[in-house]
Amino acid sequence: TFYSCKSCGYSSAKWLGRCAGCGEWNTLVEERSGGAVDAKEMAGTLSAMREEFREVGRKADTRGGLGASSHGAEPWVPLYSEGTETEAHAQARIATGLGELDRVLGGGLVPGSFVLLGGDPGIGKSTLLLQMAKGIGAKVLYVSGEESIEQIRGRAHRLGVSKSQRIFLAAETQLEKAFASVKELEPDVLIMDSLQTFASAYLESAPGSVSQVREIAARLMTLAKTANISVWLVGHVTKDGSIAGPKVVEHMVDTVLYFEGDEGQNYRLIRAVKNRFGSARELGVFEMDGEGLREVTNPSSLFLSERRDPVAGTAITACLEGTRPLLVELQALVSQSILALPRRTSVGLEGNRLSLLSAILERHMKLSLADKDLFFNVAGGLRLDEPACDLAAAAAIWSSLTEKALPSGWVWIGEVGLTGEVRRVSQPELRVTEAMKLGFKAAVIPEANLERCAKIATAGGMKLLPIQHVDELRKIIPAKPL
Ligand code: TYD
Ligand code: MG
Repeated sequence: TFYSCKSCGYSSAKWLGRCAGCGEWNTLVEERSGGAVDAKEMAGTLSAMREEFREVGRKADTRGGLGASSHGAEPWVPLYSEGTETEAHAQARIATGLGELDRVLGGGLVPGSFVLLGGDPGIGKSTLLLQMAKGIGAKVLYVSGEESIEQIRGRAHRLGVSKSQRIFLAAETQLEKAFASVKELEPDVLIMDSLQTFASAYLESAPGSVSQVREIAARLMTLAKTANISVWLVGHVTKDGSIAGPKVVEHMVDTVLYFEGDEGQNYRLIRAVKNRFGSARELGVFEMDGEGLREVTNPSSLFLSERRDPVAGTAITACLEGTRPLLVELQALVSQSILALPRRTSVGLEGNRLSLLSAILERHMKLSLADKDLFFNVAGGLRLDEPACDLAAAAAIWSSLTEKALPSGWVWIGEVGLTGEVRRVSQPELRVTEAMKLGFKAAVIPEANLERCAKIATAGGMKLLPIQHVDELRKIIPAKPL
């Protein structure tokens, strides 16, 4: 017997209250050395499973006419053959009924795909999946290892899902029993909630242990590919924000989605960090209310504060989340420090990026920040990792330091380099257009992007202010507000 960490996979000969690998408490579970399957045995189980579910997969073709899983007698198939309609198959998608989720998936759910959905407890993963089950227009089996049938029914009732005839529930923690239900029911979509609660009867290790998680992921992948069932697997997230369990699970699945949101705030963001069927940078936005999750189709309005009169220390930028432009308010607070090593605290922007920016401002704008505490916040709890928001961050810091408000109705776009130069950003037209849509009157943009935006800005009546170097911030801001 040995012990392995549910969160990072660290293993130890004796039980520890706190994992020596990742520092999490109470994450070590028992593993039996004899319990782990060897490679030969695993391959045997998986190929037996393939045989078992091949028929289900074949029927899936006639069932919904989506996707092709059936192969001939040979273990290989040609990439192209007459009638495979490769393109049509590659494009087959099922709308989930939630536009924001479709967007993140790259245009809908791909039949036979294996999706991992991670998120903090209570963020709304089960809610999202139930709502998807309602909207998807296909047969869904929802297997929960966490909740009883009554609990799921109660929630479904609140969400208005209860009348559906296509959704089937199972409260089950044993993998084999869930598979038996799948064989009998032949659903198009299988939801497994959650990874850490299931266990295979063949393994003696505890649920959530590394060997269980690995086995479950491999078996579910085989199921998805052989039976052409879309499998959704829910995973918990550890303290550092990654999905609990060995990384191997993330490698196996086609798509990894994270569901996140700020505590105390009602909206939820869903993003893809891996997607074999689309861009991995798309962002979907929902709002949680009494009736479950509601789609937010115009998220820019969400991340801008409602106040109209300008305040020192804030600047608005237009960032890109996947293909979608988003207007976001950045806030900086610069204050005299009493510490030998002044603080640089940032929420929403990476700490290193903030240190870098303050060094650039100090050097190239001659701002005295070395003896100041610097606090930085992205309004609405969004996390920004795009360099295109550098200029707005710099403007916000400068504005807070000088206690001069930036003009309202201005948007700041540009990447700032180490020498203080303002570099071009990708897709400036999209950003400027979004700002115009929301009634912004002027955009400060990199000189190098001016040409691309000039035409649309003139047409929309927006003023463009080109900038080449951060030092020009001083000149660009008018003495009198516009
Ligand atoms: P849940 O889907 O159970 O989260 P997860 O599966 O990620 O652990 O979501 C539970 C939370 O959502 C709970 O705190 C209550 C809230 N909620 C609402 O605000 N409105 C609703 O209509 C529902 C169903 C849940
Ligand atoms: Mg849940």
